[in-house]
Amino acid sequence: MKISILGSGYVGLCTGVGFALKNNDVICVDIDRKKVDAINSGVTIIEEAGLQEAMKSIGKKLTATTDIATAVRDSSITFVCVGTPSMEDGSIDTKYLENASREIGTSIKEKNDFHIVVIKSTVAPGVIEEKLIPLIEKSSGKKSGDGFGVCVNPEFLSEGTALTDFINPDRIVIGENDKKSGDILESLYKDFSAPIVRTDMKTAEMIKYASNTFLAAKVTMINEIGNICKKLGIDVYDVAKGIGYDKRIGNRFLNAGIGFGGSCFSKDVQALCRSAKQMGYDARILDCILDLNKNQRMRIIELLKLKLPGLHGKHVAVLGLAFKANTDDIRDSPAIDIVSELIKEGCKVSAYDPKAAKNFEKLFPGIKYAKNMKEAVENADACLILTDWSEFMSITDEDFSAMNNKIIIEGRRVLDKSRVKNFEGVCW
Ligand code: UDX
Repeated sequence: MKISILGSGYVGLCTGVGFALKNNDVICVDIDRKKVDAINSGVTIIEEAGLQEAMKSIGKKLTATTDIATAVRDSSITFVCVGTPSMEDGSIDTKYLENASREIGTSIKEKNDFHIVVIKSTVAPGVIEEKLIPLIEKSSGKKSGDGFGVCVNPEFLSEGTALTDFINPDRIVIGENDKKSGDILESLYKDFSAPIVRTDMKTAEMIKYASNTFLAAKVTMINEIGNICKKLGIDVYDVAKGIGYDKRIGNRFLNAGIGFGGSCFSKDVQALCRSAKQMGYDARILDCILDLNKNQRMRIIELLKLKLPGLHGKHVAVLGLAFKANTDDIRDSPAIDIVSELIKEGCKVSAYDPKAAKNFEKLFPGIKYAKNMKEAVENADACLILTDWSEFMSITDEDFSAMNNKIIIEGRRVLDKSRVKNFEGVCW
């Protein structure tokens, strides 16, 4: 099948490469000429495991352009993978989706054959019917279900493993506005070995929101248990191991620490919470997840203050700035709030991150960025570990020897107890 993909971020590009690996012809569209040129020269612009090798193997099955009209006209199905950022009030900004809808409508106006529009971007239930379909109908002069079809196909891709997640999904959710489009989209996934869940569009959108909300809740819950364990001198990771054997709980997403970050969890929980409130339902658990997660970040500062009273003028080293390991992404990273608080307390901050320092420096140009962890901790009075980079697992006591004080606090479980003796965790 000839597929066009609007938006070449980690979702759009991994979706495109994944479909090309399944022998489809894919054309990615992006406004960023640099991204387009990189894709056409077979080079990946984002860090995703296996993506560069996959791009080499698919060759010209995947091409890219800035010309949306041609891409849509020359394909039979268009996946919309543009950003849906949060607005100040927590609602979703749908301007990129609306622009894409208008452009798609204009592009299919003269087409005779049936065109399918698949929304992969995360958007609140009802927005597609209320906003996007009318825009496509207006700019195409066609009726949804007649001249074109619309589906929702949410993504469940985690940064760092997005290509694997796309190729081996736990399930494929297809929310259809018309059966014909749902059938064609299901046929596109025929070579994937995962259960297909066919629903209406609103249900598919809610499945996406509910999935991220449950995952955010699970992390928040293990952090709550971890905070209690800390007071009892219990290691929450031992507790997590014990509960994880219960198939009803499962052993993933039980890593207690400084809480979740990233471009999705807070955004999606906020959007769902706001939608609920607008309908007169007070979603208190959702509010709690957001509040507790924000507070969880500050627990590492509280612990630091207990160990190092009078933070003003003290030198604190921060290891890890990305919202999680294996990415340079700092969106909603706990490190942002924690470094902000250290600066507010008058600390001198040095930082090291294998990939995210360049992005972090755009927000915090005034702190020292070290080229390795040893340089970051030199003469430091304390060290906070905020991202679970695997290279931190090989840190030894010797690596911390240049510190003034050996106060080491983990916000993520990563140090090896056999290599480093005196350190403490935010929940352990
Ligand atoms: C998430 C969802 O996993 C994915 O399905 C969805 O499509 C997009 O959002 P992502 O944001 O890339 O993916 O990262 P994820 O691996 O889910 O971690 C999110 C945050 O939770 C990170 O800050 C991570 O450090 C934190 N986390 C995760 C924990 O604190 N504990 C855990 O046990 C797991």
